[in-house]
Amino acid sequence: MTHLPKPDICQPTGSAELAMLDVYMPMMKSSAIISAGRLGLFEALAGGPLSTEDLAEKIASSQRGTATLADFLVTVGYLQKQGDLFANTASTQRWFTRAGQVDYTPGLLWTHEAWSMMGGLAESVRSGGPQKLLWDAMVDQPHLGQLFSSYMGAFAADLGPDLLQHVPVLPSYQRLLDLGGSHGLHSIRFCQRYAQLSAVIVDMPSALSETGDEIEREQLSDRIRLSPGTLQEHDWGCDNDLVFYLSVAHNHTAEENRLAIQQIGESLKPGGLLVIHEYIAETPLDALNAAFRLTLLIETGTQTHSYADYCNWLNAAGFDSIERIDLNPHEKGSLILARR
Ligand SMILES: C[S@@+](CC[C@H](N)C(=O)[O-])C[C@H]1O[C@@H](n2cnc3c(N)ncnc32)[C@H](O)[C@@H]1O
Repeated sequence: MTHLPKPDICQPTGSAELAMLDVYMPMMKSSAIISAGRLGLFEALAGGPLSTEDLAEKIASSQRGTATLADFLVTVGYLQKQGDLFANTASTQRWFTRAGQVDYTPGLLWTHEAWSMMGGLAESVRSGGPQKLLWDAMVDQPHLGQLFSSYMGAFAADLGPDLLQHVPVLPSYQRLLDLGGSHGLHSIRFCQRYAQLSAVIVDMPSALSETGDEIEREQLSDRIRLSPGTLQEHDWGCDNDLVFYLSVAHNHTAEENRLAIQQIGESLKPGGLLVIHEYIAETPLDALNAAFRLTLLIETGTQTHSYADYCNWLNAAGFDSIERIDLNPHEKGSLILARR
């Protein structure tokens, strides 16, 4: 699919450089896209273009508000105008509707929650860590755990085909341990593809509230078991063939990862495979990784790690044949495969 660049709305419309555009316009852009997600506006247009009147009725909103929001979304490249009708752009249809390749609407709903957390950035910078750990916030407000898990589920839908392509599952592999497995979609996908596999998903209870139902819907309750708890209270046995540590390392300190990888090594059978998915910190940091580190500073107090760190932890735990696969596009992160 051809990628049409969206307009850079931070650029001044006249000849003067207006520094506030860099602050005001991204705020309005984020806020408008998130609101469209919350109102179901993109989904309302998934079936085809609509007049302001019909769109407003479909999203149970005022005509004035709907037109004002939709007009702005046209200027940032999320909607287009066809005569008097509003329509999704190809990219919006692809990423923010159920008719598309992956529906990241749960990401919009999550970002609505993250928005207020970002208001505390200065305080986190001052103190060097979160005002409140994300995991504690999820215990106090259970809907946060559900939203986060759904958002991670959208990522997992996008990453799934890459994992199936790059992770070699031998016919002898039977036991999959999915650490921080959350929504369960990776375990489900691998159990569907490989009939000999059964899986255990370890995660905190707040991340698993919907997972059992999803496993049941996929009729895999006899092969996928949930193990609620933290990685730190680990008891993973010693007969695993395949371990997933997918997007979990950035939620842990270097010492916690060193220990977890040591324990993963001990839980694997000879010839077993560890699969790590991560956003690897390069020197210098790229903008996405640097932004992600700021998010982690506020939410979990942890950070992304370098490839050298992963190699050190893996070597110390007795892993060999370490392989790094940088995914395409770059924003999908990297896989690290290691055998023991
Ligand atoms: C970024 S999400 C990744 C979810 C999933 N593995 C994926 O790739 O889509 C990180 C997951 O790790 C879990 N997690 C973080 N710290 C944990 C801990 N100490 N013990 C158990 N799970 C943890 C979170 O609850 C969350 O579900």
